[in-house]
Amino acid sequence: MTAPLLALERVARRFRPDRPPVLEDLSFALAAGEYVAIMGESGVGKSTLLNVIAGLDRPDGGSIRLDGEELTALDDDALTLLRRRAMGFVFQAFHVLPYLTVARNVGLPLALNGCPSGEAEARVAAMLAEVGLEGSGPRLPRELSGGELQRVAIARALVHRPRLLLADEPTGNLDPRTAAQVLALLRAQVKGHGGGGLLITHSRAAAATADRVYEFDGRGLRALADR
Ligand SMILES: Nc1ncnc2c1ncn2[C@@H]1O[C@H](COP(=O)(O)OP(=O)(O)OP(=O)(O)O)[C@@H](O)[C@H]1O
Ligand SMILES: [Mg+2]
Repeated sequence: MTAPLLALERVARRFRPDRPPVLEDLSFALAAGEYVAIMGESGVGKSTLLNVIAGLDRPDGGSIRLDGEELTALDDDALTLLRRRAMGFVFQAFHVLPYLTVARNVGLPLALNGCPSGEAEARVAAMLAEVGLEGSGPRLPRELSGGELQRVAIARALVHRPRLLLADEPTGNLDPRTAAQVLALLRAQVKGHGGGGLLITHSRAAAATADRVYEFDGRGLRALADR
């Protein structure tokens, strides 16, 4: 059997000593080409899980490997470089930079990875068209609606064709039709590039676009359905 794209073993994260751990003994594997949805009540630790996978937060224990590389062993600089190259993250709060145009926001991963500017411009324009924001490149985030901002965040997470796509409630602010388009795009990107995707969502309809659905109750992940 080939090694999984992403493998978590006994991952733990506790924020406060007087409260139970948010993540405890959590093990999980994602194969290359696999797109998995994780559901679960508010506050169980879904965003915490994505953050430790992305290296935005450090687990207190356990192992996280991406393509066999142990992420918990990397220092902050190495982790930042790896995240920049290999991961795309759609945050629950969009984290679109307010003083950069839409095009500069979306092109950020390409700029940080040293992509030539001509190629970057073409990829940003194509990506904006894919999320239904054709021609919005010169606009500033404050001129956009919540749903448009979310699509900027999604375009930015996909523009560098990451190995691992992490999406935290990416369709929470979108109308049903736009949500369906964005979900189809996320799935197509994961499937098209041979990487993997983790989709956190409260929506059963959104979860149904994934290959597998897990319910996370803070202790572990329980398989709900296979597609
Ligand atoms: N940096 C932090 N410091 C202290 N507690 C935190 C921190 N981050 C998260 N928590 C706590 O950990 C728990 C899990 O939070 P998390 O954001 O992972 O939940 P979630 O499952 O993503 O919820 P939602 O569905 O509402 O987004 C919550 O009780 C939260 O208050
Ligand atoms: Mg969350």
